Amino acid sequence: MNYPLPILILNGPNLKYLGQRQPHIYGTQSLNDLPLMLTTLMGDKADLIELSQFQSNSEGGLIDRLEQAWQDKTAGIVLNAGAYTHTSLALADCLAWIEIPCIEIHISHVDARSNPLRRTSLIAPSCIGVIAGLGVMGYAYGVQALFHYLKEHTK
Ligand code: DQA
Repeated sequence: MNYPLPILILNGPNLKYLGQRQPHIYGTQSLNDLPLMLTTLMGDKADLIELSQFQSNSEGGLIDRLEQAWQDKTAGIVLNAGAYTHTSLALADCLAWIEIPCIEIHISHVDARSNPLRRTSLIAPSCIGVIAGLGVMGYAYGVQALFHYLKEHTK
């Protein structure tokens, strides 16, 4: 396996202002806090990962970035698709064909929230795992999980 592993953190709609958006639901941390969280979690191993980040409020923007990840041979994806998680067959179709190992992330504990629509994920079947309810730290756990998964599954 070639290091550093290129891993994409992809965020969907309404996730640009994390830390400021409804802090009682999504917390006060932003994605700027992620590099430090990752180093705290992974120590020296954090250097074996090359992170890129992208956010789009549009479904097409997310699919375009996933197609680019496929072209670039990105090794893994940590994806918070926001509300598109629950509605976007197009995003699910894209994840199914690009076959890049992907972890679905939610900052909030979607299964414990009042709107039952949040309990459905169209993208989960194309992901290797789901992390929800652990705040921004969930992205760091997602990257760490991908790192171990890729070590096990890549020649
Ligand atoms: C979210 C949960 C979604 O239901 C919601 O639409 C979001 C954020 C989360 O991170 O908790 O925008 O993905």
